[in-house]
Amino acid sequence: MDLRNRTDGEKVETAKVDPARYIRPAAEQHLVSCRLQPVSQSRKWLDIPHRSEPNQQDAHGFCAIMPVRDFMELWDAVHRWDWFRRSQWLGNFREGKRLLAASIAGVLKDLGLAEGLVLDCSCGLGFQAIVLREAGLRVHGADRGEFAVDRARELARDVGHEIDFFVSRWDELPAKTQLRFDAVFCDALSWLHTDEEMVAALRGLRGVLQAGGVLIFQGAPQGSDAADLRRDSEDWWANVPSASLRWSHTEGAVSCTALSVPSRGDDYIDWRQLYLIDENGAKRLEHITLRESLRWNAGRFTEMARAAGFDCPVTRAVQAWSPGGRPAALNYAVAVGATAASSG
Ligand SMILES: C[S@@+](CC[C@H](N)C(=O)[O-])C[C@H]1O[C@@H](n2cnc3c(N)ncnc32)[C@H](O)[C@@H]1O
Repeated sequence: MDLRNRTDGEKVETAKVDPARYIRPAAEQHLVSCRLQPVSQSRKWLDIPHRSEPNQQDAHGFCAIMPVRDFMELWDAVHRWDWFRRSQWLGNFREGKRLLAASIAGVLKDLGLAEGLVLDCSCGLGFQAIVLREAGLRVHGADRGEFAVDRARELARDVGHEIDFFVSRWDELPAKTQLRFDAVFCDALSWLHTDEEMVAALRGLRGVLQAGGVLIFQGAPQGSDAADLRRDSEDWWANVPSASLRWSHTEGAVSCTALSVPSRGDDYIDWRQLYLIDENGAKRLEHITLRESLRWNAGRFTEMARAAGFDCPVTRAVQAWSPGGRPAALNYAVAVGATAASSG
Protein backbone atom coordinates (compact mmCIF):
# COMPACT_ATOMS: atom_id res chain seq x y z
CA MET A 1 0.00 0.00 0.00
CA ASP A 2 1.35 3.36 -0.96
CA LEU A 3 0.33 5.97 1.60
CA ARG A 4 1.46 9.49 0.97
CA ASN A 5 0.79 12.74 2.74
CA ARG A 6 -1.28 15.15 0.72
CA THR A 7 -0.75 18.88 1.06
CA ASP A 8 -3.81 19.11 3.33
CA GLY A 9 -2.31 16.48 5.57
CA GLU A 10 -4.78 13.71 4.72
CA LYS A 11 -3.47 10.32 3.81
CA VAL A 12 -4.10 9.31 0.25
CA GLU A 13 -3.99 5.73 -0.82
CA THR A 14 -3.22 4.74 -4.35
CA ALA A 15 -4.14 1.29 -5.46
CA LYS A 16 -4.57 -0.72 -8.59
CA VAL A 17 -7.95 -2.27 -9.08
CA ASP A 18 -7.57 -5.44 -7.11
CA PRO A 19 -10.88 -6.26 -5.37
CA ALA A 20 -9.10 -8.07 -2.55
CA ARG A 21 -7.51 -4.80 -1.53
CA TYR A 22 -10.83 -3.05 -1.24
CA ILE A 23 -12.21 -5.42 1.33
CA ARG A 24 -10.71 -3.98 4.42
CA PRO A 25 -11.68 -4.15 8.08
CA ALA A 26 -14.25 -1.57 9.15
CA ALA A 27 -11.78 -0.03 11.58
CA GLU A 28 -9.38 0.68 8.77
CA GLN A 29 -11.68 1.94 6.11
CA HIS A 30 -12.27 5.41 7.45
CA LEU A 31 -8.57 6.08 7.73
CA VAL A 32 -8.35 5.99 4.00
CA SER A 33 -9.06 9.12 2.06
CA CYS A 34 -10.32 9.10 -1.46
CA ARG A 35 -9.19 9.96 -4.91
CA LEU A 36 -11.92 11.07 -7.22
CA GLN A 37 -12.41 11.56 -10.87
CA PRO A 38 -13.20 15.06 -12.14
CA VAL A 39 -16.79 16.14 -12.74
CA SER A 40 -18.13 14.74 -15.96
CA GLN A 41 -21.44 14.91 -17.73
CA SER A 42 -22.14 11.30 -16.93
CA ARG A 43 -21.52 11.87 -13.23
CA LYS A 44 -23.94 14.78 -13.31
CA TRP A 45 -26.45 12.52 -14.93
CA LEU A 46 -25.82 9.94 -12.24
CA ASP A 47 -26.27 12.64 -9.64
CA ILE A 48 -23.61 11.11 -7.43
CA PRO A 49 -22.32 13.81 -5.09
CA HIS A 50 -18.58 14.09 -4.86
CA ARG A 51 -15.82 16.28 -3.62
CA SER A 52 -14.45 18.68 -6.17
CA GLU A 53 -10.86 17.58 -6.36
CA PRO A 54 -8.60 17.66 -9.35
CA ASN A 55 -8.09 14.43 -11.16
CA GLN A 56 -5.62 12.47 -9.09
CA GLN A 57 -5.31 9.33 -11.13
CA ASP A 58 -2.11 7.53 -10.38
CA ALA A 59 0.58 6.68 -12.87
CA HIS A 60 -1.20 3.45 -13.69
CA GLY A 61 -4.43 5.22 -14.59
CA PHE A 62 -6.31 3.85 -11.62
CA CYS A 63 -8.11 5.78 -8.97
CA ALA A 64 -8.67 4.33 -5.57
CA ILE A 65 -11.16 4.30 -2.81
CA MET A 66 -14.06 6.59 -2.20
CA PRO A 67 -15.56 6.14 1.25
CA VAL A 68 -19.02 7.58 1.02
CA ARG A 69 -19.87 7.70 4.70
CA ASP A 70 -18.41 11.06 5.55
CA PHE A 71 -20.20 13.13 2.95
CA MET A 72 -23.51 11.56 2.20
CA GLU A 73 -26.11 9.50 3.94
CA LEU A 74 -25.27 5.81 3.80
CA TRP A 75 -28.52 4.73 2.22
CA ASP A 76 -28.11 7.50 -0.32
CA ALA A 77 -25.38 5.56 -2.08
CA VAL A 78 -27.60 2.48 -2.23
CA HIS A 79 -30.50 4.49 -3.61
CA ARG A 80 -28.38 6.32 -6.19
CA TRP A 81 -26.88 3.16 -7.60
CA ASP A 82 -30.23 1.36 -7.50
CA TRP A 83 -31.71 4.26 -9.43
CA PHE A 84 -28.83 4.07 -11.91
CA ARG A 85 -29.81 0.47 -12.69
CA ARG A 86 -33.57 1.05 -12.67
CA SER A 87 -34.04 -0.49 -16.12
CA GLN A 88 -33.22 -3.78 -14.35
CA TRP A 89 -36.03 -3.56 -11.80
CA LEU A 90 -38.69 -1.30 -13.31
CA GLY A 91 -40.66 -4.26 -14.62
CA ASN A 92 -40.63 -6.29 -11.42
CA PHE A 93 -40.06 -4.09 -8.35
CA ARG A 94 -43.53 -4.91 -7.03
CA GLU A 95 -42.89 -8.64 -6.75
CA GLY A 96 -41.02 -8.66 -3.45
CA LYS A 97 -43.46 -6.18 -1.91
CA ARG A 98 -46.89 -7.66 -2.51
CA LEU A 99 -46.84 -10.23 0.27
CA LEU A 100 -45.97 -7.60 2.82
CA ALA A 101 -48.57 -5.18 1.43
CA ALA A 102 -51.22 -7.89 1.86
CA SER A 103 -50.10 -8.50 5.47
CA ILE A 104 -50.21 -4.79 6.28
CA ALA A 105 -53.64 -4.43 4.68
CA GLY A 106 -54.77 -7.46 6.72
CA VAL A 107 -53.63 -5.92 10.01
CA LEU A 108 -55.37 -2.66 9.17
CA LYS A 109 -58.59 -4.40 8.18
CA ASP A 110 -58.63 -6.43 11.41
CA LEU A 111 -58.09 -3.26 13.44
CA GLY A 112 -60.82 -1.37 11.57
CA LEU A 113 -58.27 0.98 10.01
CA ALA A 114 -58.54 -0.09 6.37
CA GLU A 115 -59.77 3.36 5.32
CA GLY A 116 -57.22 5.16 7.46
CA LEU A 117 -54.31 7.36 6.49
CA VAL A 118 -51.06 5.38 6.32
CA LEU A 119 -47.46 6.59 6.37
CA ASP A 120 -44.64 4.46 4.95
CA CYS A 121 -41.91 6.18 6.96
CA SER A 122 -38.93 4.34 5.37
CA CYS A 123 -40.08 4.62 1.79
CA GLY A 124 -36.69 4.61 0.07
CA LEU A 125 -37.36 4.71 -3.69
CA GLY A 126 -41.05 4.16 -2.97
CA PHE A 127 -41.53 0.51 -3.92
CA GLN A 128 -43.54 -0.48 -0.86
CA ALA A 129 -45.56 2.74 -0.82
CA ILE A 130 -46.55 2.23 -4.45
CA VAL A 131 -47.61 -1.35 -3.83
CA LEU A 132 -49.57 -0.28 -0.72
CA ARG A 133 -51.37 2.32 -2.84
CA GLU A 134 -52.13 -0.36 -5.41
CA ALA A 135 -53.49 -2.54 -2.59
CA GLY A 136 -56.05 0.22 -1.97
CA LEU A 137 -54.48 2.02 1.00
CA ARG A 138 -54.34 5.80 1.44
CA VAL A 139 -50.60 5.96 1.75
CA HIS A 140 -48.07 8.76 2.10
CA GLY A 141 -44.31 8.22 2.13
CA ALA A 142 -41.36 9.66 4.03
CA ASP A 143 -37.66 8.96 4.29
CA ARG A 144 -34.62 10.76 5.66
CA GLY A 145 -32.98 10.73 2.22
CA GLU A 146 -33.88 13.62 -0.08
CA PHE A 147 -32.67 11.82 -3.19
CA ALA A 148 -34.81 8.78 -2.34
CA VAL A 149 -37.88 10.92 -1.69
CA ASP A 150 -37.50 12.79 -4.99
CA ARG A 151 -37.07 9.57 -6.93
CA ALA A 152 -39.97 7.90 -5.07
CA ARG A 153 -42.25 10.76 -6.15
CA GLU A 154 -40.98 10.44 -9.73
CA LEU A 155 -41.37 6.66 -9.81
CA ALA A 156 -44.89 6.83 -8.37
CA ARG A 157 -45.87 9.37 -11.06
CA ASP A 158 -44.29 7.26 -13.78
CA VAL A 159 -46.43 4.30 -12.76
CA GLY A 160 -49.57 6.42 -12.51
CA HIS A 161 -49.91 7.46 -8.85
CA GLU A 162 -49.79 10.81 -7.08
CA ILE A 163 -48.39 9.93 -3.66
CA ASP A 164 -47.31 12.59 -1.18
CA PHE A 165 -43.71 11.99 -0.16
CA PHE A 166 -41.69 14.14 2.23
CA VAL A 167 -38.24 14.14 3.80
CA SER A 168 -38.02 13.34 7.49
CA ARG A 169 -36.09 11.28 9.99
CA TRP A 170 -38.32 9.21 12.21
CA ASP A 171 -37.53 11.20 15.36
CA GLU A 172 -38.51 14.50 13.73
CA LEU A 173 -41.72 13.37 11.99
CA PRO A 174 -44.21 15.25 14.23
CA ALA A 175 -42.48 18.50 13.35
CA LYS A 176 -42.19 17.72 9.64
CA THR A 177 -45.87 17.16 8.91
CA GLN A 178 -49.17 18.48 10.25
CA LEU A 179 -50.86 15.21 9.42
CA ARG A 180 -51.59 12.58 12.05
CA PHE A 181 -51.85 9.07 10.70
CA ASP A 182 -53.91 6.00 11.54
CA ALA A 183 -50.98 3.75 10.76
CA VAL A 184 -47.26 4.08 10.26
CA PHE A 185 -45.28 1.34 8.58
CA CYS A 186 -41.51 0.98 9.03
CA ASP A 187 -39.38 -1.72 7.42
CA ALA A 188 -36.06 -0.52 8.84
CA LEU A 189 -36.40 -0.04 12.62
CA SER A 190 -34.07 -2.93 13.31
CA TRP A 191 -31.24 -1.09 11.57
CA LEU A 192 -31.07 1.18 14.62
CA HIS A 193 -28.58 -0.04 17.17
CA THR A 194 -28.74 1.91 20.42
CA ASP A 195 -31.58 2.27 22.95
CA GLU A 196 -31.37 6.05 22.61
CA GLU A 197 -31.82 5.96 18.83
CA MET A 198 -34.65 3.45 19.14
CA VAL A 199 -36.63 5.40 21.77
CA ALA A 200 -36.15 8.68 19.88
CA ALA A 201 -37.35 7.04 16.65
CA LEU A 202 -40.33 5.38 18.34
CA ARG A 203 -41.31 8.66 20.03
CA GLY A 204 -41.27 10.36 16.63
CA LEU A 205 -43.40 7.60 15.13
CA ARG A 206 -45.77 7.76 18.10
CA GLY A 207 -46.02 11.52 17.75
CA VAL A 208 -47.24 11.31 14.17
CA LEU A 209 -49.94 8.76 15.00
CA GLN A 210 -53.46 9.39 16.26
CA ALA A 211 -54.13 7.85 19.65
CA GLY A 212 -55.31 4.33 18.81
CA GLY A 213 -53.27 4.38 15.61
CA VAL A 214 -50.90 1.55 14.90
CA LEU A 215 -47.20 1.19 14.19
CA ILE A 216 -46.50 -1.79 11.92
CA PHE A 217 -42.85 -2.74 11.77
CA GLN A 218 -40.17 -5.33 11.15
CA GLY A 219 -39.69 -6.73 14.61
CA ALA A 220 -39.27 -10.01 16.42
CA PRO A 221 -41.52 -12.99 17.15
CA GLN A 222 -43.75 -12.47 20.15
CA GLY A 223 -42.18 -13.75 23.37
CA SER A 224 -38.70 -14.07 21.84
CA ASP A 225 -35.75 -13.37 24.12
CA ALA A 226 -32.04 -12.78 23.60
CA ALA A 227 -31.30 -16.52 23.32
CA ASP A 228 -34.02 -17.01 20.65
CA LEU A 229 -32.65 -14.11 18.68
CA ARG A 230 -29.09 -15.42 18.89
CA ARG A 231 -30.16 -18.89 17.76
CA ASP A 232 -32.28 -17.60 14.87
CA SER A 233 -29.54 -15.22 13.75
CA GLU A 234 -26.95 -17.98 13.84
CA ASP A 235 -29.12 -20.37 11.83
CA TRP A 236 -29.66 -17.71 9.24
CA TRP A 237 -26.06 -16.46 9.26
CA ALA A 238 -24.78 -19.98 8.54
CA ASN A 239 -26.33 -19.72 5.07
CA VAL A 240 -25.38 -16.15 4.23
CA PRO A 241 -22.65 -16.06 1.54
CA SER A 242 -19.45 -14.48 2.81
CA ALA A 243 -19.39 -12.36 -0.35
CA SER A 244 -21.82 -12.01 -3.20
CA LEU A 245 -22.11 -10.31 -6.54
CA ARG A 246 -25.39 -8.41 -6.35
CA TRP A 247 -25.71 -6.92 -9.78
CA SER A 248 -23.83 -5.43 -12.67
CA HIS A 249 -25.13 -2.75 -15.01
CA THR A 250 -23.96 -0.48 -17.81
CA GLU A 251 -25.60 2.76 -18.82
CA GLY A 252 -23.80 4.70 -21.55
CA ALA A 253 -20.18 5.20 -20.57
CA VAL A 254 -20.74 4.13 -16.96
CA SER A 255 -20.64 0.57 -15.66
CA CYS A 256 -21.15 -0.45 -12.08
CA THR A 257 -20.78 -3.80 -10.38
CA ALA A 258 -22.21 -4.12 -6.87
CA LEU A 259 -20.87 -6.58 -4.34
CA SER A 260 -21.97 -7.31 -0.81
CA VAL A 261 -19.60 -8.52 1.90
CA PRO A 262 -21.20 -9.02 5.31
CA SER A 263 -19.35 -9.47 8.56
CA ARG A 264 -20.84 -10.26 11.91
CA GLY A 265 -20.12 -8.66 15.27
CA ASP A 266 -21.52 -9.70 18.65
CA ASP A 267 -24.87 -8.04 18.16
CA TYR A 268 -24.84 -6.63 14.66
CA ILE A 269 -24.05 -7.39 11.05
CA ASP A 270 -22.06 -4.97 8.97
CA TRP A 271 -23.11 -5.12 5.35
CA ARG A 272 -20.23 -3.82 3.28
CA GLN A 273 -21.57 -2.64 -0.05
CA LEU A 274 -18.93 -2.24 -2.73
CA TYR A 275 -19.55 -0.44 -6.01
CA LEU A 276 -16.85 -1.00 -8.57
CA ILE A 277 -17.32 1.71 -11.16
CA ASP A 278 -15.91 2.22 -14.61
CA GLU A 279 -16.65 5.68 -15.92
CA ASN A 280 -15.28 6.44 -19.36
CA GLY A 281 -12.52 3.91 -18.72
CA ALA A 282 -11.57 5.36 -15.33
CA LYS A 283 -12.07 2.88 -12.53
CA ARG A 284 -12.97 3.67 -8.96
CA LEU A 285 -14.59 2.11 -5.97
CA GLU A 286 -17.27 3.43 -3.66
CA HIS A 287 -18.03 1.57 -0.48
CA ILE A 288 -20.33 1.96 2.45
CA THR A 289 -21.11 -0.15 5.49
CA LEU A 290 -24.69 -0.50 6.66
CA ARG A 291 -25.00 -1.84 10.19
CA GLU A 292 -27.99 -4.04 10.92
CA SER A 293 -28.56 -4.53 14.62
CA LEU A 294 -29.18 -7.93 16.18
CA ARG A 295 -30.23 -6.48 19.54
CA TRP A 296 -33.98 -6.41 19.12
CA ASN A 297 -35.87 -9.38 20.52
CA ALA A 298 -39.52 -9.09 21.57
CA GLY A 299 -38.63 -8.17 25.16
CA ARG A 300 -36.39 -5.31 24.05
CA PHE A 301 -38.93 -4.05 21.51
CA THR A 302 -41.60 -4.09 24.22
CA GLU A 303 -39.43 -2.09 26.60
CA MET A 304 -38.67 0.52 23.95
CA ALA A 305 -42.23 0.66 22.60
CA ARG A 306 -43.71 1.21 26.06
CA ALA A 307 -41.24 3.97 26.81
CA ALA A 308 -42.41 5.68 23.62
CA GLY A 309 -46.17 5.45 24.25
CA PHE A 310 -47.17 2.17 22.60
CA ASP A 311 -48.71 -0.96 24.00
CA CYS A 312 -46.92 -4.28 23.76
CA PRO A 313 -46.02 -5.24 20.15
CA VAL A 314 -48.05 -8.12 18.73
CA THR A 315 -46.63 -10.54 16.17
CA ARG A 316 -48.74 -10.88 13.08
CA ALA A 317 -46.55 -12.92 10.75
CA VAL A 318 -43.05 -14.34 10.79
CA GLN A 319 -40.51 -14.58 8.00
CA ALA A 320 -42.79 -14.57 4.98
CA TRP A 321 -42.40 -10.89 4.36
CA SER A 322 -38.63 -10.72 4.42
CA PRO A 323 -37.58 -12.62 1.30
CA GLY A 324 -33.83 -13.06 1.11
CA GLY A 325 -33.25 -11.14 4.31
CA ARG A 326 -32.90 -12.05 7.94
CA PRO A 327 -36.02 -13.90 9.17
CA ALA A 328 -38.20 -11.18 10.60
CA ALA A 329 -41.56 -10.92 12.24
CA LEU A 330 -44.18 -8.45 11.21
CA ASN A 331 -45.23 -6.74 14.45
CA TYR A 332 -47.71 -4.08 15.29
CA ALA A 333 -48.11 -1.91 18.36
CA VAL A 334 -51.01 0.41 19.15
CA ALA A 335 -50.37 4.03 20.16
CA VAL A 336 -51.85 4.52 23.62
CA GLY A 337 -53.09 7.72 25.23
CA ALA A 338 -52.35 11.10 23.73
CA THR A 339 -48.95 12.69 23.30
CA ALA A 340 -48.18 16.38 23.21
CA ALA A 341 -47.39 15.92 19.51
CA SER A 342 -50.59 14.15 18.61
CA SER A 343 -53.15 15.72 20.91
CA GLY A 344 -53.38 19.04 19.10
C1 LIG B 1 -34.65 -0.96 3.47
S1 LIG B 1 -34.63 0.69 2.93
C2 LIG B 1 -36.30 0.98 2.44
C3 LIG B 1 -36.81 0.19 1.31
C4 LIG B 1 -38.19 0.66 0.88
N1 LIG B 1 -39.15 0.60 1.98
C5 LIG B 1 -38.72 -0.10 -0.33
O1 LIG B 1 -39.84 -0.58 -0.30
O2 LIG B 1 -37.98 -0.22 -1.30
C6 LIG B 1 -34.60 1.55 4.48
C7 LIG B 1 -34.87 3.03 4.36
O3 LIG B 1 -34.97 3.57 5.67
C8 LIG B 1 -34.46 4.88 5.62
N2 LIG B 1 -34.07 5.28 6.98
C9 LIG B 1 -33.11 4.71 7.75
N3 LIG B 1 -33.04 5.34 8.93
C10 LIG B 1 -33.98 6.32 8.91
C11 LIG B 1 -34.39 7.30 9.84
N4 LIG B 1 -33.82 7.39 11.06
N5 LIG B 1 -35.39 8.14 9.50
C12 LIG B 1 -35.99 8.04 8.28
N6 LIG B 1 -35.63 7.14 7.34
C13 LIG B 1 -34.64 6.28 7.66
C14 LIG B 1 -33.29 4.81 4.67
O4 LIG B 1 -32.99 6.08 4.13
C15 LIG B 1 -33.79 3.81 3.64
O5 LIG B 1 -34.36 4.47 2.55
